[in-house]
Amino acid sequence: MKFFIDTANLAQIKEAQDLGVLDGVTTNPSLMAKEGITGDDNVMAHYKAICDLVDDNVSAEVIATDFEGMIEEGERLAAIDKKIVVKVPMIADGVKALKYFSKKGIRTNCTLVFSAGQALLAAKAGATYVSPFLGRLDDISTDGLQLIEDIRLIYDNYGFETQILSASVRHPMHIIECAKIGSDVMTGPLSAIKALLKHPLTDIGLQQFLADHAKAAATVK
Ligand code: E4P
Repeated sequence: MKFFIDTANLAQIKEAQDLGVLDGVTTNPSLMAKEGITGDDNVMAHYKAICDLVDDNVSAEVIATDFEGMIEEGERLAAIDKKIVVKVPMIADGVKALKYFSKKGIRTNCTLVFSAGQALLAAKAGATYVSPFLGRLDDISTDGLQLIEDIRLIYDNYGFETQILSASVRHPMHIIECAKIGSDVMTGPLSAIKALLKHPLTDIGLQQFLADHAKAAATVK
């Protein structure tokens, strides 16, 4: 399963990249705003800075919501760097844009997906990635993981090549469950990725190993 980090924060992206397990980055307009990145030139420069930190797969979201606007903006984003994946919302013009970009060989990430039907449309339009938001479904007492399972079943039934990018991941158990279901990718915060590291028995065991080593070394002297 590929690991993407869901942030526009350069320090966090670098930390995840340095850990050696990062396969990409997802951003959205809210995450860019959180970093104080505004204005076309600054946004473009920030995407370039992210691309320079990671190996591939930097999702950059279009702001336009009409077909022509999405095409124009998506092509400009794709021109920043080969690593850019154009992120397009799941609306009718977005589906048309997915088809257009797919024909042109520009990779896409269909975002704001909350149903299996939307995921089916994204796959038929040739999206590279589809992003079901599992945490936001959980937030409204709907089973987000069940949606990931449904999409996995549908895509496998027909051999769709669109990759399931489980988004809106909030904690380490989301990551584990996505991996069990066979999600191709997950995107989540650095905290969820780092939480996978933690186990109290690892800490206790390591302390014991080091203490025994120090005791033995002291005895030899
Ligand atoms: C996906 O690409 C989105 O940026 C993201 O995962 C949304 O997550 P949130 O629901 O935690 O805002």
